[in-house]
Amino acid sequence: MFTSVILAAGMGTRMKSAMPKVLHKVCGKALCKWVIDASKEAGADKVVTIIGHKADMVRPQIENDTEIAVQAEQKGTGHAVMQAAEFIKEANGSVVILNGDTPLITAETIGKAIKFHDESGNQATVITAILDDATGYGRIVRNAEGNVVKIVEHKDATEEERKINEINSGMYVFDAASLVYALGKLQPNNAQGEYYLTDTLEILLSAGKKIGAYAIENNDEIRGINNRIQLNEAETIMRERINRYHMTEGVTMINPSTAYIEAGVRIGRDTIIDANVELKGNTVIGEGCEIGQGSRIENAVIGNGVNIMSSVILDSEIGSNTNVGPFAYVRPNCKVGENVKVGDFVEIKNSSINDDTKISHLTYIGDSDVGKNVNFGCGTVTCNYDGTNKYRSEIGDNVFVGCNTNLVSPVKVGNHSYIAAGSTITEDVPEGSLSIARSRQTVKEGWADKKNMY
Ligand code: UD1
Ligand code: CA
Repeated sequence: MFTSVILAAGMGTRMKSAMPKVLHKVCGKALCKWVIDASKEAGADKVVTIIGHKADMVRPQIENDTEIAVQAEQKGTGHAVMQAAEFIKEANGSVVILNGDTPLITAETIGKAIKFHDESGNQATVITAILDDATGYGRIVRNAEGNVVKIVEHKDATEEERKINEINSGMYVFDAASLVYALGKLQPNNAQGEYYLTDTLEILLSAGKKIGAYAIENNDEIRGINNRIQLNEAETIMRERINRYHMTEGVTMINPSTAYIEAGVRIGRDTIIDANVELKGNTVIGEGCEIGQGSRIENAVIGNGVNIMSSVILDSEIGSNTNVGPFAYVRPNCKVGENVKVGDFVEIKNSSINDDTKISHLTYIGDSDVGKNVNFGCGTVTCNYDGTNKYRSEIGDNVFVGCNTNLVSPVKVGNHSYIAAGSTITEDVPEGSLSIARSRQTVKEGWADKKNMY
């Protein structure tokens, strides 16, 4: 058990955004939410996030996932942690400090750092990395015996110190009581006039405490996001992590570098994900599906054995063994049954389509409840909008709708009835009947000849 304190009060000026930095997303999840989730996965029993800049925008996005402390004025990383003092005082076990703009940190690394901290008997452990280019980072200063003695900020470092390539990741493990003590002694003794959290190490050392460093195994995990380029780099790494996870779990990916799968998506075994597929939100895809190129699926639940070809599906359910596309558009709030065909250039919206129904081509079904085993001819349109209001169409089981039919809603079409091709249906169609709603063909013999067309 430990308490995690996540620093997320800073401005993030270089994002050049109206939105606070920590709310920018990587693979569909806010930067700070990644860090909150990694903390919990590592076993944090309390997570406290320090917010400040545009706190009113950040709070509603995270308040169900974390305790919140507000740092009204950003006076440094040490000052930020002070805002969580009440939580630190009552912490069970260690306190882990993380940054809200470092989404690639993993639960595994947090766990390893805590284990190292405990086994070393440290009161403070800083998570470090060796970088080829350490510019901008705080440097880890060690004595002749190799023990950490302090961290010096790049801005405050001497020429000699700037040559050190072991850097401070900005993440630490502290003994709770020692952290409280050190925070009490912090002074803004630097050119910036900030309370540096890094100074706590020196304070603890001079109070006779033991401090140490845990070197990270994978430098990617400490990548902080300061601008949109770094945001994209983090996304590339996260995307690969997510895709590799699905492949490990039995999903085939044809061209994983082009597939975009968000963090909350679940995919069953033996499903094949083609190139340029986007799977977003809390989408769940069953087993043995084929998600064809360029498909975009958001917040949808897809059964088993479903084939989706180059189509868009939003906030809807698709039953097992159904085929969708190519180029179908399933808009929000559709419930499509099993063994259904939603064919090419078909749009459906806010409708339920029962099992075995075929909507093969060029059709719009909106605000409709469709029964089982219905056959829609090519070019059927539900006219669900009269310019002011929307109305529903009800279509029973085993109905045959001829090509190029308009169903002017509200309208009911009874079970096993037929509608003749080209009909504009404005009145209910009784069960078992045939409705023909088009003008009778007139043939004018010899008309063209008389007109001397040839
Ligand atoms: C900090 C470290 C530096 C380390 C680097 C790693 C200090 C003094 N320096 O420097 O040694 O190498 O991180 O990235 O700690 N924040 C607040 N409130 C504040 C100031 C900052 O919440 O008043 C938050 C920021 O939003 C950010 C984190 O703390 O998430 C780090 O702050 P930042 O200003 O980026 O620190 P650095 O100068 O980069
Ligand atoms: Ca930084």
